[in-house]
Amino acid sequence: MATGGSGKVMKECMLTGFGGYHKLKVVDAPKPGSPGDGQVLIKVVASGINFAELHARQGMYKSKDGKVTPPCVLGMEASGTVEEVGKGVETLQVGDRVFCINMFELWKEYVVIPANRAFVMPDEMSFEEAASIPVNYLTAYLMLFDFGNLRKNKSVLCHMAAGGVGFAVTQLCKTVENVTVFGTSSEHKHKAIQANGVDHPIDYRTKDYVEEVRKISPNGVDIVLDPLCGADTKKGYDLLKPMGKLIIFGAANGMTGEHKSFTNLASMWWSLPTFKPLSMMTSNKSVAGFHLGYLSGDDESEAMITDAAADLVRMYKEGLIKPHVDSVWPFEKAGDAMKYIADRKNVGKVVLSWEKKDDTEEKKEGGGEKKDEGNEKPGVL
Ligand SMILES: NC(=O)c1ccc[n+]([C@@H]2O[C@H](COP(=O)([O-])OP(=O)(O)OC[C@H]3O[C@@H](n4cnc5c(N)ncnc54)[C@H](OP(=O)(O)O)[C@@H]3O)[C@@H](O)[C@H]2O)c1
Repeated sequence: MATGGSGKVMKECMLTGFGGYHKLKVVDAPKPGSPGDGQVLIKVVASGINFAELHARQGMYKSKDGKVTPPCVLGMEASGTVEEVGKGVETLQVGDRVFCINMFELWKEYVVIPANRAFVMPDEMSFEEAASIPVNYLTAYLMLFDFGNLRKNKSVLCHMAAGGVGFAVTQLCKTVENVTVFGTSSEHKHKAIQANGVDHPIDYRTKDYVEEVRKISPNGVDIVLDPLCGADTKKGYDLLKPMGKLIIFGAANGMTGEHKSFTNLASMWWSLPTFKPLSMMTSNKSVAGFHLGYLSGDDESEAMITDAAADLVRMYKEGLIKPHVDSVWPFEKAGDAMKYIADRKNVGKVVLSWEKKDDTEEKKEGGGEKKDEGNEKPGVL
């Protein structure tokens, strides 16, 4: 095996082709050499799994730079320790514990990234928690506080409330006075999402969530966060109160199980509504789209992310937010961990770790160690 600038070998979790869960494999790769100007070398401990990686494995993810094409390394967020800093880096030092965000390539033991994409973690934060912050909390933060302009006494409909973004959305909503959260999830997860702050849990599998929301709030809600797309986008729009905001940020309805389903995708596209500017004007509603992966490359976007990350660190230190880690899996089990998410088994964040041994047989659910302890409710204002 060829070695990199360092002359050493490391491990990385590679997507070897589009398709099933077995397409993810841990392989040897060259360890990167020293970071360039403005970069840092990080020894990764843990990384989160996001829907983006599930979509990418199925060949359905297009990054800002184009389609993600295997063989390649996925991973948009990680936590670890700074091993080396490049010239001109003043914000980080060797030995700093950090979390970071990047457009993929983070499912490696060592990564070199721009220093402005890594943020120092609070001392009391675990590496697993830190790996759960970047994508889920930045997405939730920017949607609620920028697009959503969330203020006191407002109401929010949060789909997938038991997922990583859902936990983050709920916790951030509860940092604002008297915000009501409607959250959809499978019924067996309702206790967990209520403990996290959801006021009205709704089992979307057995009930019509639109009817359930209207029973409690006949006029609808102020903000709908839509990670589902398709027919749910129209339902979300119709549920908005005057001056309400629909923020579309995902297409989970287009994803089923292990393999890409063209029927499913077609039915999702087919049921997408068209928004007419004049009727939006007369109904006083707004529609926005959010994609964290496309928010990069210019100073203002980078500053937005840096400021939001700093505020999230403050909120963690003040006990206002706390990632809910569902389970930690060895990188060798990345495919199984993805299946676990696609089977809708997770409650909170699913994390991969280089420190976790591949002792599958002893563990529940094929390799993930459940993390129930220490996930107490964050402070609620
Ligand atoms: N635009 C962005 O920048 C951005 C960033 C991050 C995430 N996202 C989007 O946000 C959504 C949530 O992501 P996440 O990371 O929070 O998810 P996650 O933690 O993996 O949550 C998965 C959970 O969502 C629920 N779910 C509902 N519909 C599903 C479906 N069709 N397939 C699988 N699970 C489904 C399941 O629980 P229940 O069935 O119990 O509800 C499942 O356990 C995704 O659509 C993702 O693409 C967008």
